[in-house]
Amino acid sequence: MIGLVPGPWTSHRKGSSPMALTQDVLSRVIAFANGKGGVGKTSTSANFAGLSAAAGWRTLFIEFDAQGDAGDDLGYKHSPDNDRGAHMLGVLDDHQPLKPVLREVRQNLDVIPMGRDALKDIEDVLWGKERRGTEYRLMLAEALAPLAREYDLIVIDTPPTRPIVLQLVLGATRWVVVPTKSDRSSIGNLAELAAELTEVRQANPHVEVLGVVPFDFDTSGARIRRNAVEDINAVLDGASSLFLDHDGEVITIRHSSAAVDARNAGKLVHELAEIAKEEEAGEPWWKALREGRRPERIPGSVGGLADDHLLLTNAILTRIDKLESANREEVSA
Ligand SMILES: Nc1ncnc2c1ncn2[C@@H]1O[C@H](COP(=O)(O)OP(=O)(O)OP(=O)(O)O)[C@@H](O)[C@H]1O
Ligand SMILES: [Mg+2]
Repeated sequence: MIGLVPGPWTSHRKGSSPMALTQDVLSRVIAFANGKGGVGKTSTSANFAGLSAAAGWRTLFIEFDAQGDAGDDLGYKHSPDNDRGAHMLGVLDDHQPLKPVLREVRQNLDVIPMGRDALKDIEDVLWGKERRGTEYRLMLAEALAPLAREYDLIVIDTPPTRPIVLQLVLGATRWVVVPTKSDRSSIGNLAELAAELTEVRQANPHVEVLGVVPFDFDTSGARIRRNAVEDINAVLDGASSLFLDHDGEVITIRHSSAAVDARNAGKLVHELAEIAKEEEAGEPWWKALREGRRPERIPGSVGGLADDHLLLTNAILTRIDKLESANREEVSA
């Protein structure tokens, strides 16, 4: 079922109930995290945010990646309004109110960008708080709370190897999506993320792993594919954390050079696929998702990759929806 019309999702919007820093207010904060570098955090988070926005959800994308790669994926890197993290630094260092820096980067999509210098300064601010014994893990959560009702989804891209920044982000997060490469060392690294989660739960007990996504996956060999999935399941202690498609197949982001083409072009993968499809008189890629219909596959390499991101977006939203419903039933029982 692809029933992703933004119906029940709108209930958290502005005006629905008094504002407070509660699990409810931040229940749609989704961070893409894995302490390891180059495992697809930016690619999966930017494409998820862009597809969700295209499907009709008001989405805020927050970058915490020093390289600003999401600025390439979404094409705003060289925009004069890209402050490269200056605003976020002001929020965390000087208690300024948080606001979206780049509005309507796409329809329904606002962005708070990041850059190398600002991220370094933010790290210093956090280390300073840590040294003084001040709780820094909830600073982003507190800054986000007044803004959260403006959005249906808040998507956060995280940096590699900056544990204190990861703690700050996880302190504001409800759901963690974990992209990983499928080699043994990357899979082994998932245990370190588990340790980060244990640590942050002292401040934010609500953060949970929503699921794991094998990234840059070699789709050619069925045996390699099966082994990698088995390895991931072994670390995770069960299959429930991998995302599955309608046929019960594990959703992966395949290896494809189209990803590099998309980043170089400042486009998300589905946008590049739309351009590739231009000559055919088809409907826009996101339309079926918005209308709750199963989208058509686009042939060729970029189409296959766009399909992976679309399936992943659908699976993430569906799983959150399901868990929210289960939680509501638990509360009312
Ligand atoms: N499907 C794909 N196939 C092959 N390469 C890909 C694919 N998607 C993205 N890439 C490339 O893989 C690299 C790593 O991806 P990405 O930047 O998303 O990872 P990351 O975890 O955010 O990295 P970092 O830790 O440096 O922030 C990038 O060069 C990106 O262009
Ligand atoms: Mg990145």
